[in-house]
Amino acid sequence: MLMERISEWEGSMADSGKFARKTDKIEIFDTTLRDGEQAPGFSMSAEEKLMMAEALCDLGVDVIEAGFAAASPGDAEAVRRIAAEVSGPTICSLSRASEGDIKRAAEALQPAKKSRIHIFLGTSPIHRKAKLNMSKAEVMAAIESSVSMATSFCDEVEFSAEDAIRTEREFLTEALECAAKSGARVLNVPDTVGYTTPDEIYDLFTYLIANVGGAEKAIFSTHCHDDLGLAVANSLAAVRAGARQIEGAINGIGERAGNCALEEAIMVLATRQDVFNVHVDVDTTKIYSASRMLAKITGNPVPRNKAIVGRNAFAHEAGIHQHGVLNDRRTYEIMTPEDIGLPGNALILGKHSGKHALAARAKELGFEIEEDRMSAVFASFKAMADELGEIADAQLIELVCGVTGSSTNVWQLKRVEMRAAHGGQAEPFARVELDHPLRGMVTDIATGEGPIHAAFNAVQTITGISAIVEELEINHVGAKGRTDCIADIVLGIHGEKFTGRARTRDVIPAGVEAYVDAINRAAASQSRDAYGRKKPTRTPEKAKDAA
Ligand code: KIV
Ligand code: ZN
Repeated sequence: MLMERISEWEGSMADSGKFARKTDKIEIFDTTLRDGEQAPGFSMSAEEKLMMAEALCDLGVDVIEAGFAAASPGDAEAVRRIAAEVSGPTICSLSRASEGDIKRAAEALQPAKKSRIHIFLGTSPIHRKAKLNMSKAEVMAAIESSVSMATSFCDEVEFSAEDAIRTEREFLTEALECAAKSGARVLNVPDTVGYTTPDEIYDLFTYLIANVGGAEKAIFSTHCHDDLGLAVANSLAAVRAGARQIEGAINGIGERAGNCALEEAIMVLATRQDVFNVHVDVDTTKIYSASRMLAKITGNPVPRNKAIVGRNAFAHEAGIHQHGVLNDRRTYEIMTPEDIGLPGNALILGKHSGKHALAARAKELGFEIEEDRMSAVFASFKAMADELGEIADAQLIELVCGVTGSSTNVWQLKRVEMRAAHGGQAEPFARVELDHPLRGMVTDIATGEGPIHAAFNAVQTITGISAIVEELEINHVGAKGRTDCIADIVLGIHGEKFTGRARTRDVIPAGVEAYVDAINRAAASQSRDAYGRKKPTRTPEKAKDAA
């Protein structure tokens, strides 16, 4: 969507003849599966890497660094499978500046439609001395021989001067010049240790672009680590100085504190085109799913307040903010959740929320709260929010019905029992009881891969709504002797996503209640009741008449 807006903008500018030139493209080089995967706690199997590569392909990144083929047979296999099965982006393998590594990379990349070998060699004094034990002349010779050799094994070669930021400027210039003259199409200038600052890297790229000879056909690339929390800012400063490729990883994963978070860099470039005057060819609406897939595969949830993809990135709880957003989202949103493909409602109901947000959410759930009842509903809502923090839909419905006397049109979890079998023969099962105002109490017993899965199956049978669990996160919260479990779920139902949330004393009911919450939202959003009939907007009066 955002991209459409940008191309509309470009179109109108071109029509006006004011800025008729086309903006430069920034290539997005994704290293989630290499630099990201090599960080402790983020390893992935070949199968998982393939799934992630498909998500990156949907996102539309230009290059996928699929691994480091010479590192292990598993890594080589992952590169080979991605090269064979993912088409669209250039597929890349990392390689040291050695014949053996280059051959391993070439073999693994063989099935790729477009392949890149990424050769790296330390150039800084500390790397030359302490790691490589090589003189400057030896480094230069290794660059020349490895880059020239690699050019005959793949479509394009990238050269990285590892620890470029701490390399003497003159030597770095010579090293990059040697790589360019030996056939490298991409000259990468990594901040391997996350040490630089935006002003410094801007100055360095400006200098290199002006002084590296023989690089007319090459592009300069930035690869920043986040040790000082500056990776994205530094990458963008490099772009302002003329870099035309950004390397980074989804959710900012990577060695130590990680790499440049690609979703952040992409959204900055897309949102602030006025500042950068460049464009990226990615489908930003695929950012959220790529980020969540990575979190799920690696078991590392995205922090709630993470820019762009955190659960709070588009959430508003403060009453003043919610009022503004309800009137016009642009009051507090510079991007929309839809721009990154985020599902669900961005208004969080809690103790900071105001009447406008409360009324809006109740309406979404099918309840029109009339003026004269609002004060009573609002007072109960505030009391509940003080006690519980965030209010889930099921709790809100119960509250509104309690105060206004309406009846609900949604399923409520009344009871859940389950058997968890670990080892042995016994199959996990769950017995679930749901209550519905029209259908009454319905019970089902189902089996599943585990007890919670069995409970979800039982809810599906009862409600007749099939759903795929895309995300489930359960956290223990609270202090001073009272701890609760908060479950957040995202369900895929007929190609749409629905979120659900629940807070209970124990893990199991929290998960199942969140599941039911999302099912109710799906039914509400389709304006249909549990029987699939068109759902009338409810007022307390209508509800009483109906009773
Ligand atoms: O950080 C770094 O220098 C790297 C290179 C291999 C590009 O990851
Ligand atoms: Zn790196």
